Amino acid sequence: MVALARTPRPQPQSADTSAFEDDVLAGLRTTPKRVPAKYFYDGAGSQLFERITELPEYYPTRCEMRILRDHAGDIAKLIPQGAALVELGSGSNKKVRIVLRAARKLAAYVPVDICGEMLEQEAAELRLDFPQLKVLPVRADITHQFELPAQAKAAPVRVGFFPGSTIGNFEPFEAAAFLRNAAHILGPGATLIIGADLIKSADVLNAAYNDAAGVTAKFNLNLLVRINRELGATFKLDTFEHHAFYNRERHRIEMHLASLKRQKVKVAGETIEFRAGETIHTENSYKYSIASLGALARGAGWQPAGVWTDAREYFSIQAFTLTGK
Ligand code: AVJ
Repeated sequence: MVALARTPRPQPQSADTSAFEDDVLAGLRTTPKRVPAKYFYDGAGSQLFERITELPEYYPTRCEMRILRDHAGDIAKLIPQGAALVELGSGSNKKVRIVLRAARKLAAYVPVDICGEMLEQEAAELRLDFPQLKVLPVRADITHQFELPAQAKAAPVRVGFFPGSTIGNFEPFEAAAFLRNAAHILGPGATLIIGADLIKSADVLNAAYNDAAGVTAKFNLNLLVRINRELGATFKLDTFEHHAFYNRERHRIEMHLASLKRQKVKVAGETIEFRAGETIHTENSYKYSIASLGALARGAGWQPAGVWTDAREYFSIQAFTLTGK
C-alpha cells in the first residue's frame, strides 16, 4: 500500500476526543457491540436531530411543546423568583423559551450541553430576546460531575430543567444515578422538571423511530461518519443499515446499525470484525409511566410535585422537589 493512500488521521478536535476514542473502542471490542448515544450529537448530528423533531411520525417534541405551552403558568409556579434555571442537555432553546417567558425574574439561566457549537449559538439567540437575563452556558457531559457558574451557586435556589426525554437514553440504574447527581448539583430546596416519553402502543413508537423520509436512519448512520472523521475509521456507510424497534419487555426503543455483510473495519488503528447481520447498539430510548418515573425519582431523594400530559397521554412533564435530609 502506498503511503498516500492512507486516510489521514485528523488532529484531535478537543480534549474530549480521547474520551470519544476510548468509549468507541471499548464499545466495539465488546459483544454485543455498542456506542453510547450521547455521541450522536456532533454538529451534523444535532442538526439531524432538529429535523427529526419536525417529522410527522416523531411526536415527542410536539407533545412536549404543547404541554409546556398549555401549562407554562403552573410549571412556572414551581420556579421561585431569584432562582437559577439549569437546563440539563439543553440542545435547542425552543422549550426553555416557553418556561423563561412564564417564569418570574431569574438570577440566571444555565444551559448545559455536550455540543459546544449548539450551546454558543443558542445562548447568543436567547441573549438577544431576553436582554435582562444572565445566560451562562456550561459545556459539559451531564452524565459526569460538573461545576455550576458562581452566579448560579450564589442563587437562593436552583431549578433543573431536563426536557426532551433525554432521561430515556439512560439505563434505569443510570437514570437513578443521574437523579442523585442532579440533587447534589442543584442542592437543597431544588426543583427538577423532567420531560419523559410515556409507554404507549408499539405501532406509534416504531413509526416514530422509522420515519418514511429516512432522517432517523441518517441520524443513526451519522455516528459512523463522525467515527470515520474523528477517529480515522474506515466504515463504509452503504454496508450498514438503520434498525429501530420497540422492545416491549424492557419498555424501550432500541436503535442499532446492522452490518450487511461480514467485514473488517479499522477504527483508530484497531481492526474490528463484523459478522453479517451483527449490530452496533447505538441507542436505547426508555419509555416510562408516571408511576415508574415517580418511583425512580423517589428512590433518588425527589418528591413528586406535579405532572402534566398531553390529551393522548403520549408524553409527560413531571416535577419533583428535594425535601429534607
Ligand atoms: C433525544 C433521546 C429523546 O430517544 O427519542 C430520536 C433521540 N433517537 N430519534 C429519543 C432520538 C432517534 C431522542 N432523545
